[in-house]
Amino acid sequence: MKARVGVLISGRGSNMMALAQAARDPACPYAIALVASDKADAPGLGWAHEQGLATFAAPPGKAAREAAIDAALRGAGVGTIALAGYMRLLSDDFVARWRGKIINIHPSLLPLYKGLDTHARAIAAGDAEAGCSVHVVTEELDGGAVLGQARLPILPGDTPETLAERVLAQEHLLYPQVLAEFVEHEP
Ligand code: GRF
Repeated sequence: MKARVGVLISGRGSNMMALAQAARDPACPYAIALVASDKADAPGLGWAHEQGLATFAAPPGKAAREAAIDAALRGAGVGTIALAGYMRLLSDDFVARWRGKIINIHPSLLPLYKGLDTHARAIAAGDAEAGCSVHVVTEELDGGAVLGQARLPILPGDTPETLAERVLAQEHLLYPQVLAEFVEHEP
C-alpha cells in the first residue's frame, strides 16, 4: 500500500506540484492524500483542487490553524507530512505529535543559511556553490537530519533571483526522490 502524504504549502506550491506529478507514476511509493495551506488563496491550493487532490485551507490563529491541520491530516489518513514552502513555524507540540514524520525542503546547503534569504546570503558570502536540502523537521528551525541535497555552482553575475530559479529546478527533482526514499524506509 502506498504511503499517504500530506503536503503543507503557503503559496505557489511548485514543490507540491513536483511531488504530485511524481506520485502519478504507478511505481511511486507515496500518494498525495491532502494538500493543506494556511492561506485559502494560495495559488498551489487551486492547482491541487483542479487536479482532483483533496485540499484544506486552515482557519486563522496559530492554535486553531494547527489543530485544524492536524485533524485534517489525520482524517485523510496521512502518515508523512511534506512541508513545501509552508511559511509558518510549526509549534513544538505539533512537531512532537508527528515526531520523525515531517520533512521539509530548504533552499540552501544545510547547515548553511537556515531561515530566509538563503540565496542572497550565499552570494554575499562569495560561496562557489549553492543548492537545496531535504531534512527531517525538528523543533529547531531547518535543523533536523539532512536526508538529501542537490548542489550547483553559483555563476558570475548571479542574482538571488537567477540563483533561486536554478536551485528551484533542482528542488523539483530532489524532493520527490527523497520523499520516495523516506516513505520506503519508514517504520
Ligand atoms: C522553495 O524555495 C522551498 O525551498 C522553500 O520555499 C520555496 C517554496 O516554493 N521552502 P514553492 O511554493 O514550492 O514553489
